[in-house]
Amino acid sequence: MGQLSGKSIYLTGGASGIGKAVTEAFIEEGAVLTILDKSAEGLAELKKKFSDTVKCIEGDVTVFEDHVTAVRTATETFGKLDVFVANAGVFDGFAKFEKVSSDAMSEAYDMLFTINVKGYFHGAKASVKELKKVSGNMIFTVSGAGFYPDGGGVWYTSSKHAQIGLMRQLAFELAPEIRVNAVAPGGTLTALHVIPPLQPFVKIVDNETKEKSIKTRNPLRIAMTSEDHVGAYVLLASDKARAITGEVISSDGGLAVRGLS
Ligand SMILES: NC(=O)c1ccc[n+]([C@@H]2O[C@H](COP(=O)([O-])OP(=O)(O)OC[C@H]3O[C@@H](n4cnc5c(N)ncnc54)[C@H](O)[C@@H]3O)[C@@H](O)[C@H]2O)c1
Repeated sequence: MGQLSGKSIYLTGGASGIGKAVTEAFIEEGAVLTILDKSAEGLAELKKKFSDTVKCIEGDVTVFEDHVTAVRTATETFGKLDVFVANAGVFDGFAKFEKVSSDAMSEAYDMLFTINVKGYFHGAKASVKELKKVSGNMIFTVSGAGFYPDGGGVWYTSSKHAQIGLMRQLAFELAPEIRVNAVAPGGTLTALHVIPPLQPFVKIVDNETKEKSIKTRNPLRIAMTSEDHVGAYVLLASDKARAITGEVISSDGGLAVRGLS
């Protein structure tokens, strides 16, 4: 018996990176998944690999109706919804506030906050009724940027702080029926996408440079992979975490103890 045996989980952004690794880990632990992602190609790969264990919905987290479709698909296919994982997100590429034009600043704000923050609001709202029926839980992918500067630029960092605020307020409002927690990965080797309005203002680095830079920025000197974070998600989704709500598990190589040197 896996730790998530029989659980029906709805996860956004499962076609790539951290969401894909979490999807695979959840399936290994006995769960069935409904995935919402905009990448048709990534979803087709998931479907090929996992067949009836996953239902894939091609859509956009900024569209509330797409979440409603995903939740309905999960309940019609698997009979219930136990866990919602808000994970799909985009990046600002460490763009510097002063260097970005005011038009690009505004466009980037609307785009990044609509995906990273409103996307989480939408998913939570669409899931809450079904989660309440089974005393389920929500897990938000946040980031070290939800606590500290220099995990991105102002757009990404403020969006990740906002996600933590949303998580804590929901944990307060939805108790005692629903637990709400977060996982905060540190810099991870994925294809995390820099939004178009900020692309002219950032340097896109190759994977080798990215790996070196991530390693020097955390005390454990790890350039993390998506698989490094899955244990935290499995724990929070499982009944073993029944006393945990309103918490963030940091999976970041020790950013909180990096000191000043
Ligand atoms: N990579 C890192 O260093 C890092 C660190 C901390 C937190 N995170 C967070 O992890 C989460 C996943 O990012 P990742 O690094 O795995 O990136 P990724 O690009 O590999 O995966 C993101 C997935 O979300 C999907 N997506 C993006 N926008 C969408 C939209 N509007 N509608 C539907 N699907 C959409 C993409 O198609 C992709 O499959 C994000 O919330 C990100 O902020 C990443």
